[in-house]
Amino acid sequence: MAAGGGRLLNPVGDILTMNDKRRCHALLVEAGVPVPPALPDVGSYVDLRAAMTAYGWGRVFVKPAHGSSASGVIALAVSGSRVMAVTSVEIGTDGRLYNNLRVRRYDDEATVAGIVDRLAPDGLHVERWFPKAGLGDRVLDLRVVVIAGEPSHVVARTSRTPLTNLHLGNARGDVAAVRAAAGPAAWGNAMQTCVAVARCFPRSLHVGVDLMFRAGWRTHAVAEVNAFGDLLPGVLAPTGNDGAGSAGLDTYEAEIAALLDGRYANWAGSCVR
Ligand SMILES: Nc1ncnc2c1ncn2[C@@H]1O[C@H](COP(=O)(O)OP(=O)(O)O)[C@@H](O)[C@H]1O
Ligand SMILES: [Mg+2]
Repeated sequence: MAAGGGRLLNPVGDILTMNDKRRCHALLVEAGVPVPPALPDVGSYVDLRAAMTAYGWGRVFVKPAHGSSASGVIALAVSGSRVMAVTSVEIGTDGRLYNNLRVRRYDDEATVAGIVDRLAPDGLHVERWFPKAGLGDRVLDLRVVVIAGEPSHVVARTSRTPLTNLHLGNARGDVAAVRAAAGPAAWGNAMQTCVAVARCFPRSLHVGVDLMFRAGWRTHAVAEVNAFGDLLPGVLAPTGNDGAGSAGLDTYEAEIAALLDGRYANWAGSCVR
């Protein structure tokens, strides 16, 4: 019970963990959830390059540890002295960093180093670049909302850049086409992973899992877990078995239903930590 008598849908501690990409990644690793491997602490661009060399990784995703909506996320590819960064970061005329909805590319190393060094003091989480599956000329990932342990609402996010976040002008994709491309086994495994993620936060009513299929569709990995990932206007859980207890409902309706019909209590009770 929160101050004022309200009921918290997700506990504060879970929200804090989900909003720290390093802690969340470590929790998922511990639980055996597939995630891209991460570098140990990176405090600067020099550190980053040294770690990439040590690990033999030419392509990484640099993410502010407490970021969201792709703000400050950099898809970075290096090869010898050449670098290519794709990001929504814009360097203002005042020298400060801004988010811009137009994703841009930087191939000047000093500029990329400057951006990384400006972001690093707030904490970075750096992962190996996971080659995402795509359809046509777009790569994609899924946002899967799991409510009381049921993966019920799925949005495919497709992009011509490595960043799929929808507010960056990316398009919602056809979930049925993604599912068909993945095939029943890979799709089922991916949904099981989303349940396993929810199990890491058993007292949270809902989690929003960003799930990437690897090119070729056979395997998948979790990019992050969102504590407020249920803002999916107009997305209804499918009717029939696939939508389970949330069939036909939007995310908010489904959350209330799961609280009222006992599914949340059953789910939380069934999770052993
Ligand atoms: N390791 C990775 N490899 C490839 N793409 C990634 C990786 N991590 C994140 N992404 C992509 O970057 C974007 C933002 O990543 P995410 O971790 O969800 O952070 P945010 O909180 O900014 O949404 C998404 O499009 C996601 O698919
Ligand atoms: Mg995300």
